[in-house]
Amino acid sequence: MGKAFSTFRARKSIRSKRASFAFESVQNVQKDAEPLKYFLPNFIEDTDIMVILHFLDRYLFQSNFNAPIEEQLIDGNFKILDACCGAGTWVLDMASIYKSSNFIGIDLCPVFPTEIKPYNVEFVQGDILEGLPFEDNTFDYVHQGNMVEIYTLGQWRFITMELIRVCKPGGYIEFTEPELGSNPGPILSKFYDALIELSESRNVKIRMYDNLISNLNSIPMVQNVESELKCIPLGSRRGGNAGHEYLEVHNGFFLNVPMPETMCKFMGLSVEQYLEMFKEARKEVADGISPECEVYRIWCQKIYEEDE
Ligand SMILES: C[S@@+](CC[C@H](N)C(=O)[O-])C[C@H]1O[C@@H](n2cnc3c(N)ncnc32)[C@H](O)[C@@H]1O
Repeated sequence: MGKAFSTFRARKSIRSKRASFAFESVQNVQKDAEPLKYFLPNFIEDTDIMVILHFLDRYLFQSNFNAPIEEQLIDGNFKILDACCGAGTWVLDMASIYKSSNFIGIDLCPVFPTEIKPYNVEFVQGDILEGLPFEDNTFDYVHQGNMVEIYTLGQWRFITMELIRVCKPGGYIEFTEPELGSNPGPILSKFYDALIELSESRNVKIRMYDNLISNLNSIPMVQNVESELKCIPLGSRRGGNAGHEYLEVHNGFFLNVPMPETMCKFMGLSVEQYLEMFKEARKEVADGISPECEVYRIWCQKIYEEDE
């Protein structure tokens, strides 16, 4: 297994270190009146998980992106946006490799570094659902990752159009997203079913690969829609070190606050029963009955104006 894994260990939850970025309460999830802006965890330990996930994805694809932009990135003066950048891990990693290009990360919550950061990086706080605070045709490359569980289908359409709007003609837009694992064991299936039900109650679709592709193919302003899908069995028994680390990320998603409290209502369980059942799901995976986790990249090019 590559160097990336030796550096990163899944960390235990340290509730006392929790930062106070709780956006929507579980009650709001249950009320279900308005689409939630953001209902997933975004605490310190989740940020740790997102950092681990970044390096796992980089290992899986052996790169931070698939769009054909490497030469321009090296040449420099390339302007890159990472939408919903979270802790800014992708941005910071890219900026340290491509030192003469310029990177901007935007996120609803200031979980990114505000003081200590490289000279070629800027972070902005903003809500993409209110429109990106950038002029049309600003960036050479626009990236967004790990947002599948967050936007409703309608919001995806709006956000995709925003990402395309701020991309220069000839520039590239790229998404990196996980797909909910396939072939889970019988116990883990119950968690997946509840997650799908919870998401559908919010008009959020968990398996978005086909939607993203057909959405992009239906937009006349883009061309050359391409994708790559990587598959890894969860757990060390079938997936080795990478499978072990992806499993830790996967488990963190189901175990970190507020997910147990949110999900148990969809499963007719108390939080204690939920946690007990998740232990059984873990055992199922440890015994080798594990799902295949898929991660995909989809990228496309904004057409040149004369092609429009
Ligand atoms: C699962 S994290 C992904 C972070 C980052 N893209 C990564 O891969 O590490 C989701 C991020 O989306 C941000 N987010 C959610 N809704 C947003 C919105 N409407 N506008 C901007 N950022 C948003 C959250 O604050 C959070 O940092």
